[in-house]
Amino acid sequence: MDLGDEKIEESAGYASKLERGYSVTPWQVTGVVDYNKIVKDFGTRLITPEIIEKLQKFSGIIHPLLSRGFFFSHRDLDLVLDAYGNGENFYLYTGRGPSGHVHMGHLMPWFFTKFLQDTFGSRLLFQITDDEKFLYSQHLSLQEVEKYAYDNILDVIAMGFDPKLTRIIIDTKNIQTLYPLYLEIAKRLTFSTAKAVFGYKPSSNIGMIGFPAIQAAPCFLPSLIEKKPTRVLIPAAIDQDPYWRITRDIAEKMGYYKPAQVHSKFVPSLELNGKMSSSRPTGAIFTTDDPETIESKISGAYTGGQPSVGLQRMLGGDPDACPVFWYLSHFFDDGKDSFERSLKCRTGNLLCGECKSDLTTQTKLFMSEFTRRRDQAKNQVDSFLYEENPFD
Ligand code: TRP
Repeated sequence: MDLGDEKIEESAGYASKLERGYSVTPWQVTGVVDYNKIVKDFGTRLITPEIIEKLQKFSGIIHPLLSRGFFFSHRDLDLVLDAYGNGENFYLYTGRGPSGHVHMGHLMPWFFTKFLQDTFGSRLLFQITDDEKFLYSQHLSLQEVEKYAYDNILDVIAMGFDPKLTRIIIDTKNIQTLYPLYLEIAKRLTFSTAKAVFGYKPSSNIGMIGFPAIQAAPCFLPSLIEKKPTRVLIPAAIDQDPYWRITRDIAEKMGYYKPAQVHSKFVPSLELNGKMSSSRPTGAIFTTDDPETIESKISGAYTGGQPSVGLQRMLGGDPDACPVFWYLSHFFDDGKDSFERSLKCRTGNLLCGECKSDLTTQTKLFMSEFTRRRDQAKNQVDSFLYEENPFD
């Protein structure tokens, strides 16, 4: 029995906070998120050492985002890897809702996606859900979302995805491609399922209610492009899982493979212990921030340290509760450095100021290179945009 695909109607639904103490939907995360509980509640699977080993056979290395446990959960990743081992290629699919500038948290699944593209030579569809962000937002006009869409595309290109293997789908621009798939999918999804999964209310606008079928469409597009059922692997944060869950339930009936996923955790805010959010701009470092802004955001960051130097020396800090440590360990420190840093912190031999200064230096260096690539990306946009027969 595949626990990952039990009937949606039988489960409590992602949106039901009451029974669970938390609620995770693509649009809102509330409560305290326990990732082991999510795996159980969502019916996904933990990424096991065996799967990491399987992946390592192809990549040679264990990607730090796997060894750090940032990508922690999956659906059918093992199937995709086995099929690849038997000579079957797969597509990657990921995306971005252009509701604002891109911050470091957004880049993390993209790093992993690039690693997968480099390892497997996979074609990548990257969806920009400008429609979603317009429909969801209380204040963004369609023109503003459009502006962010092009701004965010520069970040996607700056990641260094292979231009021959990567196509960016902008929902409002590529709707002709998506619409037939949208219809086939939408017809197979009931309102009662969508309501249980996404937590719609009577006040939800009807665009939002139909939207999941638009985000599901690129899961099947590769099969149309390749003219045969084609596997798709989706790297995404776990809050996107509701989309894939409903898509998986109808995939085989439509003659496609169920889309596979690899799920990441959320990225902590620099200010509090919560998901990094674009709606609190001081809690996130954006790729458009200048060096002074980076410096002041990191210097104002929340840490796992004690209130005074004396107490820090005496009691030590708590790296597990520290976003500064988190960024250093996930972006910049290697495993050994990170372990040593955590040890020194816990034993009171490292002050928060030192970690903040390390993070500032590293982030500025990273961003200056990223900004350079982002500027260059302006000349490359056209070659990345999706068009008919995208890979010919
Ligand atoms: N809904 C996602 C967001 O708000 C954007 C998105 C579209 C996406 N397709 C995706 C994310 C596939 C991950 C994988 O950011």
